[in-house]
Amino acid sequence: MAGGFYISKTVAAVCLVGAAGALAVIIGLSVLYAQEKSKNVELLPTTAGPSTTTPSGPKEPWDYYRLPKTLSPVRYNITLRPRLTPNTDGLYVFTGHSQVLFRCVIETDLILIHANKLDFTKFDGFLAKLSMDGDTAPTLKKTWLEAPTQYLVIQLNEPLQPGKFYKLYTEFVGELSDDLGGFYRSEYFEDNVKKIVATTQMQPTDARKAFPCFDEPAMKAVFHMTLIHPQGTVALSNSINYDPVNITVNGESLIETSFEPTEIMSTYLLAFVVCDFAYIGTNPDIRIWARRKAIEEGQGNYALAKTGPILAFFENYYNSSYPLKKSDQIALPDFSAGAMENWGLITYRETALLYNPGVSSNGDKEWVATVISHELAHMWFGNLVTMRWWNDLWLNEGFATYVSYLGADYAEPDWNMKDLIVLNEIVGVMRVDASAYSHPLSSKEEEVLKPDQINQLFDSITYSKGAAVLRMLSDFITETVFSKGLHTYLEEFAYNTTSYKDLWKHLQMAVDKAGVALPHSVEVIMNRWTLQMGFPVVTINTQTGKITQEHFLLDPDSVVDTPSQFNYEWFVPVTWIKTGGSEQQYWLLNKEDLVLGASDWLVANVNMTGFYRVNYDETNWERLIARLTLNHQEIPVINRAQIIDDAFNLAKANIIETTLALRMTTFLNKEVEYMPWETARRNLNYFFLMFDRSELYGPMQAYMKKQVTPLFHYFRDLTVNWTKIPEKHTDQYNQINAISLACSSGVESCRELTSGWFKEWMNNPAVNSIDANLKSTVYCNAIAAGGKAQWDFAWEMYKNATIASEAEKLMYALSCTQEPWLLNRYLQYCLDPEKIRKQDVSNTFIYIGRNPVGQPLAWDFIRANWLYILNEYGRGTISIVSIINGLTERFSTEYEYKQLELFKKEVEAILGSAAGIFDPVLERTKANMNWVALNKKPLSDWLSSQTSGI
Ligand SMILES: *[C@@H]1O[C@H](CO)[C@@H](O)[C@H](O)[C@H]1NC(C)=O
Ligand SMILES: *[C@@H]1O[C@H](CO)[C@@H](O)[C@H](O)[C@H]1NC(C)=O
Ligand SMILES: *[C@@H]1O[C@H](CO)[C@@H](O)[C@H](O)[C@H]1NC(C)=O
Ligand SMILES: *[C@@H]1O[C@H](CO)[C@@H](O)[C@H](O)[C@H]1NC(C)=O
Ligand SMILES: *[C@@H]1O[C@H](CO)[C@@H](O)[C@H](O)[C@H]1NC(C)=O
Ligand SMILES: [Zn+2]
Repeated sequence: MAGGFYISKTVAAVCLVGAAGALAVIIGLSVLYAQEKSKNVELLPTTAGPSTTTPSGPKEPWDYYRLPKTLSPVRYNITLRPRLTPNTDGLYVFTGHSQVLFRCVIETDLILIHANKLDFTKFDGFLAKLSMDGDTAPTLKKTWLEAPTQYLVIQLNEPLQPGKFYKLYTEFVGELSDDLGGFYRSEYFEDNVKKIVATTQMQPTDARKAFPCFDEPAMKAVFHMTLIHPQGTVALSNSINYDPVNITVNGESLIETSFEPTEIMSTYLLAFVVCDFAYIGTNPDIRIWARRKAIEEGQGNYALAKTGPILAFFENYYNSSYPLKKSDQIALPDFSAGAMENWGLITYRETALLYNPGVSSNGDKEWVATVISHELAHMWFGNLVTMRWWNDLWLNEGFATYVSYLGADYAEPDWNMKDLIVLNEIVGVMRVDASAYSHPLSSKEEEVLKPDQINQLFDSITYSKGAAVLRMLSDFITETVFSKGLHTYLEEFAYNTTSYKDLWKHLQMAVDKAGVALPHSVEVIMNRWTLQMGFPVVTINTQTGKITQEHFLLDPDSVVDTPSQFNYEWFVPVTWIKTGGSEQQYWLLNKEDLVLGASDWLVANVNMTGFYRVNYDETNWERLIARLTLNHQEIPVINRAQIIDDAFNLAKANIIETTLALRMTTFLNKEVEYMPWETARRNLNYFFLMFDRSELYGPMQAYMKKQVTPLFHYFRDLTVNWTKIPEKHTDQYNQINAISLACSSGVESCRELTSGWFKEWMNNPAVNSIDANLKSTVYCNAIAAGGKAQWDFAWEMYKNATIASEAEKLMYALSCTQEPWLLNRYLQYCLDPEKIRKQDVSNTFIYIGRNPVGQPLAWDFIRANWLYILNEYGRGTISIVSIINGLTERFSTEYEYKQLELFKKEVEAILGSAAGIFDPVLERTKANMNWVALNKKPLSDWLSSQTSGI
């Protein structure tokens, strides 16, 4: 899956004095509290089973969340019929029947198969039928549904025999609900007609909501799918369909579409869709599916153009041909994650697959390219070879995230994608992982059992830190060796499952064969990075030659109470460049070492390929400032960004002075590159969060104005008075920074520029000539500077937007108004699914909370309505954790701390423990309070020294 949590990255990246960095923190707190409320339980009665809820009694097999090893599925025949119109009770349902052929591995008189929220009504007294070919199957003694562990339980009168094959047949009804999980429905309007799509999201544990199955990744089988669907619709699934046939059921003319048997695969990768979408592409090889309008408008063309090359890249990279006969990719109006790598039928949010030149920004385009690349990477890594259990999710997702940048770089060679991974994934997750509340990449199998525990793994550590440590590994063993190891790994385990050790083994084989010198085995080195949380700060003293490492914690007062078998020490591949430029490498294997000779200046962690921060002795910091001031291009661009990011993080951790970090931004009045500016913007955003309601706001703005004015002028000239689009991808990004920072710090003519563009659009709504890249920041600044007229216009445009990315930008911009009543009205709209789609509610709250005027309003609103929200919006659609986390970013006073404690008590009174939501936020608030107390004065002094004279 491509995480749903960083969906709005492209929008977040353009916020006023943007807070994109903060998003990483939001996603770090996993979707802990998404306690699903099963809305229609009463519709689907579950047969009561033997009372097993006594907590003290001995555990029965059906009390365990993991399947026993007694049975092994071989093949399923599944027929499903979704109803795209509601029944007489107003509910959308699907009916189905399924037969699974399985082998008995260990003798047993018990069949446990997953089933959740399915109603088995057909057989009087029984829920299923058991049979076998050429023999009599054991008879059923007792059958029931075990809701807590989501099983259909079948006790038999005689045992099943090892080595023999059995068939289990069931018929069932399920709800085609709008909860974005299992077999669900998505709705949209086309020409004022409401249309229904039946679609799926199985990962991680919702295939069992569509049909009874052995719903664990290692339980691979072959699937024969058949879908029965209305005339005028098309059915899609993982494999190629046979010719659809017309059938009549109870007088209704329907279509029956069957599909070729799938390859041997895991249940979580199944997908089936019934819709009346159109496609472009070559039938049946590579097709892009979407709403008819979107296809007509050419919104799928970019995805189609890039899918072929990216597939070709991966075939070459893995040295392994694409394992399937076809690749369908489909954009869905309602989708919880960013995208899902179903084998042969990848599902996407519209914003992750569709691109509309002239309307979508280059950031939207980059998002499409990287998400496609991510999902296609999974077609081998994850789908052909699958993690045995969810505890290794980090390897699956971290890997796909890392190589998505390689695939996107191949598809768009001018974009510097291999550099951008540092900004998009690495620096953000370093903040998350620098907390004492972080967790190791790798979990123990027995710690990840329940669906909620599995869902929690889909966080930024899994995706982004996973990507970062694999990038580091690929760098120190070289990319060629890395891909050779992947090749033999995929070859050995095709159609099978693995654990992370299997990958280490194959990479080790490639390392040995290539003769790469490593101080330890791949596994021993990587264990330090995957089995303990966090990462080191490497301190280099250029005066004494000493190098040391220490566990880096962002909050200087935090205490790590989880012990690590490696004592929070790492095997660190340290690289550096000195005057003259050539790179040197050295393995730091101990807590400290003595290696360096004297040098002029030195920058370590070249291109930030290592997952660590770097600190220096004061002399070297001073030399770096001198170099940056004199000739910043002498230092590679990624390292200019890294120096800023390291310095601010070290300051946050009280390791260096805050003013030293601020001095790393003084060279920016000569800098025009995106990466250093973006890093500075994200880091300075914290200062704005802490002080934008205080008397320091003025001096901070003055400093920002002084630094950004040359950049604003640079882009004015580069774009010939704002009439051209910069050629370079990263320049296009930095132009956005130039405008948004200039407008928010009051650079002359910036507000007039953006309000003027917006006014032109308002005067002629049919023609929006605002440069697509600049839309977010222009909308936001114009709405902030305007009033009701601007807001209402944007709202109209939002409602009429046929392009999801355009709607997303407007949705964000609507939160920029400075009028409290407009913000309150917008908050109200969030609870009306007709106005704001459920999938967008979390982000909308968070956007409003980013606005200093909106923050207290949103906070009051959430406190008043949290229970209603939690009940109305199920798991996967809203994350109360990320909302609370987002709304309390500014909290830095005793008073706010007390408010949080009160709210925690209230939530606890109803939900039981709420520590998971509140403890990290309370911790952060305390840290903010301490930081403000410590830094307000020095910051104030420094700012007046910088801005005196202007
Ligand atoms: C599934 O259906 C196919 C074709 O309809 C049939 O050949 C096969 O025997 C069936 N398998 C099972 C497990 O019933
Ligand atoms: C199925 O029925 C539709 C509508 O009645 C018709 O257009 C189509 O040609 C039929 N297809 C087949 C294969 O008979
Ligand atoms: C899957 O891998 C295991 C070793 O991990 C091996 O014993 C088994 O035979 C493999 N299965 C198939 C179908 O290749
Ligand atoms: C660092 O990245 C740049 C691209 O920004 C690349 O040209 C250079 O080769 C990289 N340096 C090293 C030592 O890998
Ligand atoms: C740039 O554009 C502004 C506003 O559109 C205009 O007032 C100004 O004269 C232009 N400057 C140049 C050098 O074309
Ligand atoms: Zn993924």
